[in-house]
Amino acid sequence: MSTNVGIAGLGVVAQGLLELVRSNADQLNVIAGKNLSVKRLASRRLRDGVDLSEIVFSTDLDDLLNDDELDLVIELIGGTDAAYDLIKATLERGRGVITANKAVLATHGNELLDIAREHDVPLAFEAAVAGGIPIIAALKTRFPANDINWLTGIINGTCIYILTAMAHDGVAFEDALQNAQELGYAEADPTFDVGGMDAAQKLAILVALAFDVPIEIDSVYCEGIQDITIEDIQHADELGYSIKHLAIGRQEEDLVEMRVHPALVPKDNLLAKVNDVENAVQLGTANTGVLRFTGPGAGGHATASSVIADLTNIASGLYRHPGIGGGSIRVRSIGDVSSAFFLNIAAADRPGVIASIGETLARHSISIASMIQKKEEVIRSVDNEIIPVVILTNTVVERELDQALEELESLADIAAPIKKIRVVDLT
Ligand SMILES: NC(=O)c1ccc[n+]([C@@H]2O[C@H](COP(=O)([O-])OP(=O)(O)OC[C@H]3O[C@@H](n4cnc5c(N)ncnc54)[C@H](OP(=O)(O)O)[C@@H]3O)[C@@H](O)[C@H]2O)c1
Repeated sequence: MSTNVGIAGLGVVAQGLLELVRSNADQLNVIAGKNLSVKRLASRRLRDGVDLSEIVFSTDLDDLLNDDELDLVIELIGGTDAAYDLIKATLERGRGVITANKAVLATHGNELLDIAREHDVPLAFEAAVAGGIPIIAALKTRFPANDINWLTGIINGTCIYILTAMAHDGVAFEDALQNAQELGYAEADPTFDVGGMDAAQKLAILVALAFDVPIEIDSVYCEGIQDITIEDIQHADELGYSIKHLAIGRQEEDLVEMRVHPALVPKDNLLAKVNDVENAVQLGTANTGVLRFTGPGAGGHATASSVIADLTNIASGLYRHPGIGGGSIRVRSIGDVSSAFFLNIAAADRPGVIASIGETLARHSISIASMIQKKEEVIRSVDNEIIPVVILTNTVVERELDQALEELESLADIAAPIKKIRVVDLT
């Protein structure tokens, strides 16, 4: 018995996959209970130094569709156009697909999973979120008798690398981004990563699995890390927090929260200790407390090992369709979300200013948990010196906070728009 595999793409993950399949062939065949054989590979071009012996190579993706000997196709080209066409057509021909492509799943996942169910063929995607961490497998078990209440994650390598460099080496955002690009951790156009969209796509998939709802990328509230400064990181540090780019999903009754944004995380939380290009996901469960997963979120071998987990699962008949889909999703808007907030207020350093900030916040039932006045960090000096007043609020509904900030910004003693960063303590 054998499972014949076709691969689309010859980039980082495909090359890692070829290496791991070859170097672990005997073990994989035992686990799969049959002979796993890569028969064909289609990609735009050959890559120097890649051994394709015993594999038929072509530049036409349709060759994967037209090869009747293939049992399944592994899509590793990325993007949402050609990848979507290939996955759809493969499933419609009654063959399984493995993909590492969060973008195609976030935009077309509901439709593709319906087609897979209709044709009763697998569509597996362990590698699409958090690279080498088996988080999809964990969520797919659907935790019988153990509801997931919330999940939090650090799932974008570029953001975590940049924030780590800013915190540990004191480099500004632009310099940290340039380093990330030079090291190959960030794309030439990094907007998608630093703007939060990459994490938003992955979150939409995780939320769908965790709460058995459809994938709804358009409903994810999304902020990136472009406006985080070294001063923000230092002020947060003084208050006992690290700043991370978080993905958060939460279900309360029939309302689902989906948001990605920078956040202050208490320093003793696992997420505060995730650095460089590591990823992490925490699941808040009803009966097993908090489950924590950390590991490499990218890299050829790490990602390929997740692809191989899907491959052996399918070949050995263990694949099950995920509970994504059916029903509808009611999303809590960001204005209705409750958090504590970190505020940085550029205020005149003169008597009465702190009192009027406190009074304005109090009128909106917002209390101050901690405050530091950074008298040594003069922003500018005209009639009075303008200095940062850094405040940590108690938990407040965001809409209420925004009204208070609007009032504060209209005061003559407040010199600039107020910086707000949410505090997240789901632990
Ligand atoms: N890299 C990671 O660590 C990682 C981690 C998790 C998930 N993923 C996901 O895995 C997938 C592959 O990522 P990767 O890093 O391996 O990408 P990559 O290095 O850019 O490789 C993509 C490969 O696909 C080929 N290709 C692209 N479009 C094509 C088309 N229309 N027709 C034929 N061939 C095409 C490319 O050809 P050229 O050789 O001409 O460029 C290249 O060989 C993506 O969905 C990505 O999001 C990657």
